[in-house]
Amino acid sequence: SPSDPDLVERARAAKEKLGEKVFVLGHHYQRDEVIQFADVTGDSFKLARDAAARPEAEYIVFCGVHFMAESADILTTDDQQVVLPDLAAGCSMADMATAEQVAECWDVLTDAGVAEQVVPVSYMNSSADIKAFTGRHGGTICTSSNAKRALEWAFEQGEKVLFLPDQHLGRNTAVRDMGMSLEDCVLYNPHKPNGGLTAEELRDAKMILWRGHCSVHGRFSVESVNDVRARIPGVNVLVHPECKHEVVAAADQVGSTEYIIKALEAAPAGSKWAIGTELNLVRRLANRFAAEDKEIVFLDKTVCFCSTMNRIDLPHLVWTLESLAEGKLVNRIVVDPETEKYAKLALERMLALP
Ligand code: 13P
Ligand code: SF4
Repeated sequence: SPSDPDLVERARAAKEKLGEKVFVLGHHYQRDEVIQFADVTGDSFKLARDAAARPEAEYIVFCGVHFMAESADILTTDDQQVVLPDLAAGCSMADMATAEQVAECWDVLTDAGVAEQVVPVSYMNSSADIKAFTGRHGGTICTSSNAKRALEWAFEQGEKVLFLPDQHLGRNTAVRDMGMSLEDCVLYNPHKPNGGLTAEELRDAKMILWRGHCSVHGRFSVESVNDVRARIPGVNVLVHPECKHEVVAAADQVGSTEYIIKALEAAPAGSKWAIGTELNLVRRLANRFAAEDKEIVFLDKTVCFCSTMNRIDLPHLVWTLESLAEGKLVNRIVVDPETEKYAKLALERMLALP
């Protein structure tokens, strides 16, 4: 069980045996039982930078999801091995854009005569293949903490952006941060011929949004915002930009997971907050700040944990660390060199954003 003291002790002992050879990264959405063993925690942007900053660690154990481990492999040296404690820890959003679908989309843009004006901007939450596509076509990666800067950069390079795969982050950033209108955005549906768009619609659009979303954040609703305001007078509603546009519009503040943590750290005692992001993080923050008299509630009780983030649990971490301590490499994530080359180009453009 998660609280099993035997497992805690085994994880501790295996980690101690590995010493400097292992570096454990933990995304904020991971379980507490896993986070306690992380050398660093962060949002996906911070973890991408941190992974690259530890060239002496032979093993990078990535407690997060598959696309994050791929990015870590791309950004670390060739003799560093990135390990994902459970290979089934994927991301349903990343799975919504496949290499074939994106190649087909580029053909559609080419046929409509707009491809030359389009700069792809891909959210970190995408496969290495999609990142490579982005790099090949002169685009950049972004995360929820630098999406605005990425879009500003992209609109200096071209007139239109193809934003993959999270329509909500794309729309929210364009409309909230860049002053565009909803009419400037069109939705490309990979399951429809020509994305469900006419050549004219593509020519008129500034933002071409891929029809993907997060199955966790996409479930918060305007109703849940209204309910919490009625229940807790004076509450500040703070949501992640992966939430739907109408939810973001109804909220008081919007930001990435790191932003949410900083906002709560800076919040005055006695303040009340309803947070719309992953439940593991919200619970951890509620416990942490209870002592400072900050009331923190989860925005919508019907929304669950991210099921794939939660696949990384203490038993998987123990198995991983003990295997590595015995010299047995398990669950390595490797991106092939050709994909890596172009994906790295796109990731480095992100890391170089002002
Ligand atoms: P950030 O870590 O960039 O806030 O992204 C949230 C997320 O959904 C990660 O899977
Ligand atoms: Fe993917 Fe959403 Fe889970 Fe993040 S929270 S890993 S975007 S499904």
